[in-house]
Amino acid sequence: MPDFNVKTVPTTPFAGQKPGTSGLRKKVKVFQQPNYTENFVQATFSTVLDESNTQDIVMVVGGDGRYFMRETVQTIVRIGAANGVKKFIIGQGGIFSTPAASNVIRTRKATGGILLTASHNPGGPENDFGIKYNVSNGGPAPESVTNAIYKATTEITEYKEIQFGEIDLDTVGIRKYGETEVEIIDSAADYVSMLETIFDFDLIKAFLSKNPDFKILFDALNGVTGPYGKKIFTEKLGLPETSTIQCVPLVDFGGEHPDPNLTYAHKLVDSVNKMGVDLGAASDGDGDRNMIISKDWFVTPSDSVAVIAEYAAQAIPYFKKTGVKGLARSMPTSGAIDRVAKKLNVEMFEVPTGWKFFGNLMDAGRLSICGEESFGTGSDHIREKDGLWAIVAWLNIIAYVDLKLNLPCSIRAIMNRFYLKYGRNYFTRYDYEEIESSHAEAMYSHLESLIVSPDFVGRKFGNNAFTVSCADNFSYVDPVDSSVSKNQGLRIVFSDSSRIIFRLSGTGSSGATFRVYIEKYESNEDSLMLEAQDALKPLVDVALEISQITKFTGRTEPTVIT
Ligand code: G6P
Ligand code: ZN
Repeated sequence: MPDFNVKTVPTTPFAGQKPGTSGLRKKVKVFQQPNYTENFVQATFSTVLDESNTQDIVMVVGGDGRYFMRETVQTIVRIGAANGVKKFIIGQGGIFSTPAASNVIRTRKATGGILLTASHNPGGPENDFGIKYNVSNGGPAPESVTNAIYKATTEITEYKEIQFGEIDLDTVGIRKYGETEVEIIDSAADYVSMLETIFDFDLIKAFLSKNPDFKILFDALNGVTGPYGKKIFTEKLGLPETSTIQCVPLVDFGGEHPDPNLTYAHKLVDSVNKMGVDLGAASDGDGDRNMIISKDWFVTPSDSVAVIAEYAAQAIPYFKKTGVKGLARSMPTSGAIDRVAKKLNVEMFEVPTGWKFFGNLMDAGRLSICGEESFGTGSDHIREKDGLWAIVAWLNIIAYVDLKLNLPCSIRAIMNRFYLKYGRNYFTRYDYEEIESSHAEAMYSHLESLIVSPDFVGRKFGNNAFTVSCADNFSYVDPVDSSVSKNQGLRIVFSDSSRIIFRLSGTGSSGATFRVYIEKYESNEDSLMLEAQDALKPLVDVALEISQITKFTGRTEPTVIT
């Protein structure tokens, strides 16, 4: 028998429940400890109640389908209801991609949302889980809120719950449990309708019927975007079943790493080459990242956002209406989009790594399109990056180039024209994952002191090919609320505007991940279409020399190159 009385359960704090860049992310086993998840969920609701000026809390809940998600949705409803939440809006089966959740929070004017995901990290009983709180604009909670949640986790003495028994997560509809309303909605419908209002689906369909041999392949990497992708590519655009792969969400992502990059999306990369695919694309576990590739080109994310910005106001109905208000990128992302901003004569912002930094600019009406080198691309249609949005944006642009501009529309041709117009910002990133933390810290402090040493500016590297013109530890002042974020990555700029950036990842779950970002600008027409790794080799060698990574960590090769 369900019992609708509020029960108070005594508990004690767990150390380390501090949300990182994207919420609290730990191994499933950590979340499964008795009271661990309950404590964090109670701390979240206590904070929401403190911060909110209404008693009518409406909370969106959903996640990427990974192991431990369904149990956690039940926990959230039990604890939320006991804390007086008026209504839950939950994706069917507990499923929402991160961008879909952001959209629902905004359109339903919810107080906020709890997203259950560890993004692109592997899932399953031995892997990762995560809980992330998003606020009413649909974006990740600002640090003031996550710090308050953390503080609450350190002081917790009890949590409240109502033991309803199992809530039905699978039947669409509105039901009442005691005083609390639970609405289960179709996970994909609202999101797909939103994309239909943003992009020119008719133009895309006209393009596809004119070019029946144009091959598209979408890989959901067994993550949450499978059903969304099927709806868009198969149902709406009428593409054959064979144009989508790995589209059934699995609790462990089929044992794979659901991260769309050249290393982890190897199935897509192989198929694109074998099948001669014209537009290959993948999204990550929770659907906010994307990768764009074709049989003869890999679009680096820094270029992808620049190209979308270049065509947006002509090709994409949403931006035809709103105009392009401003553009932005994270600091390590290449400067390709800066060149587009200059041409369009719009504001350009350089923010620290982390999507949350774009939200304020969007809310202030100063930013339309932005992206990060970490395979994140998006716009002010929501407050998260959006994998499928970027993929459909590319399709919309390809259709526009073919049907409206009558120009060659292969991805390679589009990139070539872009480089001829702006020059090319060659870019690559080397990742060294799961380094022992003490080794990574020693290396990082060595770099921190090296780049501020008095003789560093002016020093020459790579047989005198590169002269340091400035170096700093990136710090950001938010132009909207003047908040300051310090220590956001070590930046070395050379006199030819090449850059090397060193940063420690904020999203790993064990050890430290050291990232090296390398960028070199090229405007010589004969050198625009080289392999990035060849063009960047001399600068990569300089980065390895400066960081002394092998000496500090013993690593001779990166784990991933993007
Ligand atoms: C998440 C965030 C992004 C960020 C990325 C890389 O995906 O949402 O905004 O760029 O992590 O973070 P990291 O700290 O691992 O480099
Ligand atoms: Zn993600």
